[in-house]
Amino acid sequence: MKEITIRLNGETRRVAVAPNETLLDVLRGRLGIKTPKEGCGRGDCGACTVLLDGKAVRSCLILAVETDGQTVVTLEGVSKDGPTALQKAFVKRNVFQCGFCAPGVILSASALLTENPQPTEHEVREALAGNLCRCTGYEPIVKTVLEVAKQGARRKAARRGRS
Ligand code: FES
Ligand code: FES
Repeated sequence: MKEITIRLNGETRRVAVAPNETLLDVLRGRLGIKTPKEGCGRGDCGACTVLLDGKAVRSCLILAVETDGQTVVTLEGVSKDGPTALQKAFVKRNVFQCGFCAPGVILSASALLTENPQPTEHEVREALAGNLCRCTGYEPIVKTVLEVAKQGARRKAARRGRS
């Protein structure tokens, strides 16, 4: 076992991990973080997506030992201060059905909007290509992300107008 230290959802956490344990196993099994889901367990579905140093990654493909010293954000961290605009929009539009893909989709979309606040439809689809959803057909997800991006731009423009 090796002790690693990560910054998890704003808190410093120390945890002993086995060399072959994935970040997903450690988050769910040792640290009580349940929003990253185990779907395929081999990098295909995106249900286990978390943000590692701000980038959306599949936590089932990453060994926990490799994350020593890094920052990990899960959906619990993203919504620490209440639901984000993106989450509110997904709920308002009733986008998800079973919800299994939702944490991964929200984190991938959040990473995209942070890096690229005004993505094109193609860019949204590309950013979410690794997040499989069996229920929605993707259209409402993509439309909601684009709408939230537009709202963000409108808010920014209004703030500029006031200053
Ligand atoms: S569980 Fe990680 S990509 Fe499917
Ligand atoms: S809402 Fe069921 S998998 Fe996406």
